[in-house]
Amino acid sequence: MMRVGMLTGGGDCPGLNAVIRAAVRKGIEQYGFELLGIKRGWAGMVDPEAEQIDLRSVSGILQRGGTILGTSRTNPAKIEKGFEKCANAFKILKMDALIAIGGEDTLGVANKLAKMGMPIVGAPKTIDNDLNATDFTFGFDTAVNIVMEAVDRLHTTAESHDRVMVVEVMGRHAGWIAVYGGISGGADVILIPEEKFDIEEVCTLLKRRHARGKNFSIVVAAEGALPKDTNSFMTKGNELDNFGHVKLGGIGEALAKEIEKRTGFETRATVLGHIQRGGSPTAFDRVLGTRFGIAAIDLVAKKDWGKMVALQGNKIVAVPLEAAVGTLKTVDKDLFNIAKVFFG
Ligand code: F6P
Repeated sequence: MMRVGMLTGGGDCPGLNAVIRAAVRKGIEQYGFELLGIKRGWAGMVDPEAEQIDLRSVSGILQRGGTILGTSRTNPAKIEKGFEKCANAFKILKMDALIAIGGEDTLGVANKLAKMGMPIVGAPKTIDNDLNATDFTFGFDTAVNIVMEAVDRLHTTAESHDRVMVVEVMGRHAGWIAVYGGISGGADVILIPEEKFDIEEVCTLLKRRHARGKNFSIVVAAEGALPKDTNSFMTKGNELDNFGHVKLGGIGEALAKEIEKRTGFETRATVLGHIQRGGSPTAFDRVLGTRFGIAAIDLVAKKDWGKMVALQGNKIVAVPLEAAVGTLKTVDKDLFNIAKVFFG
């Protein structure tokens, strides 16, 4: 009988529990596997900590946000003999396989361990949707729906007060949430990390709109959006996490001040922050997570190591982990051009 571990790493995201539930259900019922939940991502491998997951543990979790396994941004590369410790954890926990569910950082570690010969498969997760080799990651659709609803709500208050509303959304290096949330909410300007913005152009767009008789505007800005004359993100302090990421934040407030100063329009900023990652997943994310969980346990059954399950078109496929990590999937230019039709 195979003993299969599962871990969730990096920022949590709605749909993680759907993946876990699906892999556990099929793993136990159809393959007769024993399933093991590793605690808090790679932290539970570096310092082995796990508990058995049975059918009861995954009952009622489909609709729950977050992850029943806990998560962390622990990076074995930053810990002495971190990778060896992870490799050893397979022996200590008597594990024959590991399903790592995560984004670029978590799967980067999975890829390294797979290269060392460890029996690992991956499942793609991130609300940012910036992972390569898959058309979508689960969690993204939920985040976009939260942004859309927030933009809808901001519309009515903006209109009542003749204000410009700046909405700061997540998206470090890729503006997928800003673009999808902005298009679906009817934003008047969308700013993304992939295309540096000129504040004067932003103000011209807003003035043009207001000259047309509109008395309010909505600007959606990804937290990683960059003004033309700088290469440094707006950050909260300089502290880096274990994967070298700085905490982003502040672009919304900075933009609001600048827009008000340059246009004379009263402007307010709203930061959606972790609200975008919390709560229950949309139907799309529950279905995608379920499909990924099933595909991941099928890969384990086939002993097809070093692969990640992915969505390509409407099919779930397996791609080498290598293809998913290394470079990020940035916003499609054609899609951003569609968003631009509605600017100003
Ligand atoms: O990587 C996902 C993400 O939600 C990013 O969009 C955001 O920059 C970051 O995580 C926030 O990280 P933390 O949860 O550590 O504050």
